[in-house]
Amino acid sequence: MLEEQFIFHLDENDADPLYRQIYLQLRRMILEGHLPPGTKLPPSRKLAALNGIGRITVTQAYKQLETEGFVNSRPGAGTFVAEKLSPNPAPLAEYVFNPDLSSWGRRLQRAPNTPRREKQRLDIDFGFGRSFPHIFPYDVWRRLLARYLSTDDVMLSRYGSPLGFYPLREALATYLAHQRGVTCTPEQVVIVSGAQQALDILARLLFNAGDKIVVETPGYNHAYRLFQAHGAQLHPLAVDEHGLPVNDLPQEDGFRAAFVTPSHQFPRGGSLQLDRRLKLLAWARQQGALILEDDYDSELRYDGRPLSALQGLDESGHVVYLGTFSKVLFPALRLGYVVLPESLLDPFSRTLALVDRGAPTLTQAAVADFISEGYFERHLRRLRLAYGERREAFVAAMDTELAGEVSFSRVPAGLHIMLHLHPDCKEAEVVQKAAAVGVGIYPGAPYYLHRPAPPSILLGFSGLNKEQIQEGVSRLAAVIPRCKF
Ligand SMILES: Cc1ncc(COP(=O)(O)O)c(C=O)c1O
Repeated sequence: MLEEQFIFHLDENDADPLYRQIYLQLRRMILEGHLPPGTKLPPSRKLAALNGIGRITVTQAYKQLETEGFVNSRPGAGTFVAEKLSPNPAPLAEYVFNPDLSSWGRRLQRAPNTPRREKQRLDIDFGFGRSFPHIFPYDVWRRLLARYLSTDDVMLSRYGSPLGFYPLREALATYLAHQRGVTCTPEQVVIVSGAQQALDILARLLFNAGDKIVVETPGYNHAYRLFQAHGAQLHPLAVDEHGLPVNDLPQEDGFRAAFVTPSHQFPRGGSLQLDRRLKLLAWARQQGALILEDDYDSELRYDGRPLSALQGLDESGHVVYLGTFSKVLFPALRLGYVVLPESLLDPFSRTLALVDRGAPTLTQAAVADFISEGYFERHLRRLRLAYGERREAFVAAMDTELAGEVSFSRVPAGLHIMLHLHPDCKEAEVVQKAAAVGVGIYPGAPYYLHRPAPPSILLGFSGLNKEQIQEGVSRLAAVIPRCKF
């Protein structure tokens, strides 16, 4: 036995105590075959002396190796590397296993991945799809959370119902009936970790590889990717200023669903009028298809009450309604909800029970109180006021600086605006030039399924004050090529 191999590199300042450093180095030597089965380790006193450390430290390391089965100690004889260890197939450091992916995983890998943009320092960032914390009542939120943290209630020590915290389901059923015209019982309202989770569960339950689904284009790209990962075939319909062109709905058989944003088309804007809604419902009945109604930001309408949900017009269980707190509270909350027709309650509930056993109870309880004690309504009123003013400032700046050179939806709603550029404009060039003058704007192409996508850009206005909006739009006007529609 070479003594040198037992002189270890030890560091008093390491986060791992000395005994663990010895344990780890011996463990590696055993696993890599440098200490074959049956090898006698140096007596603890000797190893301690070789390394200038206390004997007890070595004894501790040997004890840990023995507990885990790497060595056996024989009283009176010493400590030996365990006999029946199979050799590791390759040295730990060089061997990296690449597991085969399932067909689901492979489909996901094939989908185009929107590259993460490099973080740039921008003076004015028209970012969208996030909430902005300046309006959220953190003091109230902290108080509501603390209510459940300071109680000796057993609520947090148990699994909650996978379908959600019942008082939240009740509060939402009342809210949705009054504010969104949704017809449902609290039992039909199921809490999810974001609307995206509801889409995933619905896709698992409803779509087989090859199934056809109508989607909007431009549309919500995370839904596209998800449905495609489940093997669904997307049938995109190009939306106009009123949303889905229902006269273009496919008449041949075999469509399983339509995924739509009727209250506020994402990302183009505009809402589906009553005649289109009724035609869409008739199509779903004739096809035996479901309508997945994504009502992601309908609370944010600045010219009065939002249009009622499509779900309220459905009397035969063809509509699944999806809502989220991501836009009106904050996305990191990861809470959304789904209103299910009776037929899907049991399968949805079984799936939730398997995949994550329900959303976190603590945040659900705080949101339930936030709604039932009136804070949610008050918060929504403040959001509408603040964001409505910002949107107005944005539209006024656009009309002054870029009149006739871009077009966009005039429906006062949401947190962003999609600008349609003249067809001769190059979207990527405009985004780049805007960044060069310190303005962050976002390409519209990822939201289109048709190629080439008509040039467009997305601008969120909710995170900027009026001065920033004015300044950002005038800088933008200088980089958007002058071409009239
Ligand atoms: C159009 C649309 N639908 C659904 C969602 C999903 O929301 P979440 O999973 O955050 O609840 C988003 C989120 O940005 C969205 O923009």
